[in-house]
Amino acid sequence: MSIRFDASSGLFTLETARTTYAMQVDDRSHLLHLYYGRRIGQGDLSALYPAADHGFSPDYYASRHTRGLSSPDVMPQEYTGCNTGDFRLCCLAVRDEAGALGAEFIYDSHRVEKGKYALEGLPAAHDEEDEAETLVILLKDPVSGLELELLYSVFARQDIITRAARLRNAGTGSLRLEKVASVCLDLPFGQWDVIHFHGRHAMERQMQRNPLANSIQTISSTRGSSSHHHNPFVILCDHQANEDTGLCYGVMPVYSGSFRTDIELDQTGLARLVTGIHDQNFNWLLEPGAVFTAPEVLLCCSGQGLGELSRCYHRFIRHNICRGEHRFARRPVLINNWEATYFQFNTDSICRIARQAAELGVEMLVLDDGWFGKRDDDNSGLGDWFVNEKKLPGGLSPLIEQVNALGMKFGIWVEPEMVSEDSDLYRAHPDWAFTLPGRDPAMGRNQLVLDLGRDEVVDYLVERLSTLLRENHIEYVKWDMNRNMSDVYSRVLPPERQGEATHRYMLGVYRLLETLTSAFPHVLFEGCAGGGGRFDAGMLAYFPQIWCSDDSDAIERLVIQHGTSFGYPVSTMGAHVSACPNHQTGRTTPLWTRAVVAMSGTFGYELDLGKLTDEEKEQVRAQIQVFKQHYDLIQDGRYYRLTNPTTDHRFTAWQFVSDTESLVNLVLTHPEANARPLHIQLRGLEEDALYRVDSLCVYGSASTPEIAGVKGHTKGEGAVYSGSTLLYAGLTLPHLVGDYPSVQLHLTRLEG
Ligand code: GLA
Repeated sequence: MSIRFDASSGLFTLETARTTYAMQVDDRSHLLHLYYGRRIGQGDLSALYPAADHGFSPDYYASRHTRGLSSPDVMPQEYTGCNTGDFRLCCLAVRDEAGALGAEFIYDSHRVEKGKYALEGLPAAHDEEDEAETLVILLKDPVSGLELELLYSVFARQDIITRAARLRNAGTGSLRLEKVASVCLDLPFGQWDVIHFHGRHAMERQMQRNPLANSIQTISSTRGSSSHHHNPFVILCDHQANEDTGLCYGVMPVYSGSFRTDIELDQTGLARLVTGIHDQNFNWLLEPGAVFTAPEVLLCCSGQGLGELSRCYHRFIRHNICRGEHRFARRPVLINNWEATYFQFNTDSICRIARQAAELGVEMLVLDDGWFGKRDDDNSGLGDWFVNEKKLPGGLSPLIEQVNALGMKFGIWVEPEMVSEDSDLYRAHPDWAFTLPGRDPAMGRNQLVLDLGRDEVVDYLVERLSTLLRENHIEYVKWDMNRNMSDVYSRVLPPERQGEATHRYMLGVYRLLETLTSAFPHVLFEGCAGGGGRFDAGMLAYFPQIWCSDDSDAIERLVIQHGTSFGYPVSTMGAHVSACPNHQTGRTTPLWTRAVVAMSGTFGYELDLGKLTDEEKEQVRAQIQVFKQHYDLIQDGRYYRLTNPTTDHRFTAWQFVSDTESLVNLVLTHPEANARPLHIQLRGLEEDALYRVDSLCVYGSASTPEIAGVKGHTKGEGAVYSGSTLLYAGLTLPHLVGDYPSVQLHLTRLEG
């Protein structure tokens, strides 16, 4: 039993293998948060919070004669009320018909169920291994009639607790929700760092770590997508926490739209994190009987540092967020024509790329932007999901047949949520796009966002894309979204519901994706939003992989993929080898190094392979073999960061570990004169086990500056070390020189 309730004390205890989560209904029937952290045993947790009268922190009316006994402004809360005297971050803003803002939640009842709850219309974790147990606590605001259900599913073996909140108007008047959080997490004691992942287009998920100050820190997006700029995943950890030790909390919203996470350090030293849909431009009318569901959040607590926290999320996302037949299947090595041709291609040039790729062992051709409508640049054509027969005479089928005849699968790019002004779809339905009455809309990439909150728009896209997928042998879809949302105004919502348009858009996106991914289970969907502008757990419920960034420069990718790895597994990270000089940065990196970085992701190529020298083509062949050979270790192995590229500027290293082997990857980012030894300490190995160390590739060592993909050249090649030696004494690698050389070491655990 991972969920217990003690009726005499009103104590709820949720337990996972290594953590405890505790709440209590107090004697005035408010639900207090008592504890979340390393697993604990017996003891009166309410004694942690002695009553004390804090100036300017008010009491509930019922406690006015016993001042300070239960101030909502001081006590840790499970989910706050609204306008009740808790001046810290609040979870909810709800207004009644008289304009009065208020809610005070009183415990009513609870139920415990086997299995995982589902959320209507929203992505959420699922349980396939009979692991989850669910607690639903019902709280009521007696005055407005607003009911709040707090949902918890405990995945005991995986140390994950999912949470969500559901509001129902059980009163007689309408209520206006101006803010609804999914989760409040109060950490009454401790001193915390906040780790979050900020960025911009083509430079996503840069890790940033700051001490939490006596103020409010906000990590958010108002862009209608989770954004390149702030990933919704946030970590709170103690000041000393590192990869191996320390207490860390992960908070991962399962939502892809505008979100807001605030973290406050209050007067008592309590840290409060509140996360949910962004309240800017949000306003939801809740008529009597109606229900509003706030998106799910995945909570994880690790007492063993950041590395363990990440590995918990990696496993959980692969098993309990991603769905469908592709999540564990080996993904095909692909060639994408985007950086090879951009919009200038035809059947012949694509077939030439496919032939060249097939010869080298590539398994799928992906036809990117430009195959439809009038689309010769990014100014027109979005919305017209019909083949451009000028470029592809006879349609897609002749091309797909030729690609399939080479033994390759065929995939295609779409951007269904958008419309170009210059398109037949826009000419037929100008009102389907978000624009403000009487104003010229802001244009992003010269396109507009379709109002997916409208059923007929979603239905149209379901029909059009289903036809495309039914009529053509398409085995992969890259689903893009290339602008953020402005001018949000729905032509079908009444004035009092305009504040619902952004979230209704997300519900429409989820319905569209749910319908298509269920109807076409064999199609592998890859998410994309100008690279990683919507890289979140919500999207991963439909897409087992997401294009990580439009920055395909291997050295920039070290930082981007490092940041991404804190929350998301490598199986979700779309990563390709592209041409040099790199199209985004102009940098030149060795071909093998580009592959080392891309194979710590879904792995593919995005360049004109025909332009490679024969020697480079041999390398590509070898890279694909290495990737396939080590696929299981890379995708299913446990992931260890060995360096932090935002602070370790000399080299970046990371490692995959299974019970029988390990793969160590290192890229030198800053060669030194009169260099110090290149030394690394490994992670994740068994201290007492023995490992044989072989180098798979050493590109650019001083002794062999030109070779790539060649074995040998590590001192002690084939030597056997104990796990403890590799963990604590470490390994010194060959002296690397030049621009961005890399090393891959393979460790085999020896029997006995
Ligand atoms: C986005 C994607 C790219 C490519 C282009 C096509 O930027 O991230 O990979 O598909 O669109 O327009």
